[in-house]
Amino acid sequence: MNMLQLNTELLHAQNNRSTADLYNEATEDYEFWSRDFNMHFGYYSPLSTDPFRRDSMLNEMNRQIYQRLGTKGVLCDMGCGMGGTMKFGLKNYRDLKIIGVTLSDFQAEEGNKRLKGMDGIILKEDYNHTSFANETFDGAMAVESFCHSGHSADPFKEAWRILKPGAKLVIADAFLKKDYEDLCIGGSYCYKGLCNGWSLEKLGNIHRIKTMLEEIGFRDINIEDISFRVAPSVLHVPFAISGFLLRKIYNAEPLKTQSIKNLKGSLFALLSGVQLNNFGYYIITCTK
Ligand SMILES: C[S@@+](CC[C@H](N)C(=O)[O-])C[C@H]1O[C@@H](n2cnc3c(N)ncnc32)[C@H](O)[C@@H]1O
Repeated sequence: MNMLQLNTELLHAQNNRSTADLYNEATEDYEFWSRDFNMHFGYYSPLSTDPFRRDSMLNEMNRQIYQRLGTKGVLCDMGCGMGGTMKFGLKNYRDLKIIGVTLSDFQAEEGNKRLKGMDGIILKEDYNHTSFANETFDGAMAVESFCHSGHSADPFKEAWRILKPGAKLVIADAFLKKDYEDLCIGGSYCYKGLCNGWSLEKLGNIHRIKTMLEEIGFRDINIEDISFRVAPSVLHVPFAISGFLLRKIYNAEPLKTQSIKNLKGSLFALLSGVQLNNFGYYIITCTK
């Protein structure tokens, strides 16, 4: 292992610990964001979603993922949270089995209770180095999860390893539109707040992702900028935060450290989301 690989490994290890802490303590708070425990932003589609009903947009994001990924065979959800996307797939498509991985004990335990009786299971594993054999899966997805590893090549390489030839990887996530060094003062302030709040190693530059995927061996790479589809659900953030805080005050419940971190992350996501020159939200589809 050379020095660069060692540094990356150390960074992943450090970040994995803070990510696990965040989700072990703050996952419960997401019930306020989504009754279906979708821990991601939504996809607004004028014909099928109501911009005032958040879960309709969050579940539409799930539908968009499966539409690109396919709905047959065994899939891997790399960074599955409480299994919100998994449950949507298992409920709506009969021919699916899904294995999800997360760093959080809480999510694995509670998420598996929510999947009881369905063809899905959540394992506590690191998506950078899973225990699955080569060419296990008919498809893999990563919804707002590879950002935790800074969109480094590692999780993409691991996805490539565990996918069968011809299988697809679908990623939905926020990316930078330029290098961090080129952000303006406001952009870099929001970026740092977002990364600190949500324990993100960094965000990748979308313009470099295609080359990285090609170098790993992926083909048919399609990168869709869906920032305007995602915007209506991002605008729900201040209302969700206010409601959450009011309930805490009403119930005289203290705010946990990780909940405060999570709230800061959410606020900076909103502030970043409006800077369309610096940040964008994308769905990336590619084939092994
Ligand atoms: C914002 S949540 C998204 C969860 C889910 N994809 C969803 O949309 O509901 C990020 C998830 O990524 C997982 N994650 C982050 N880094 C990970 C890693 N190195 N290995 C496995 N899971 C990871 C976290 O545990 C968490 O479940």
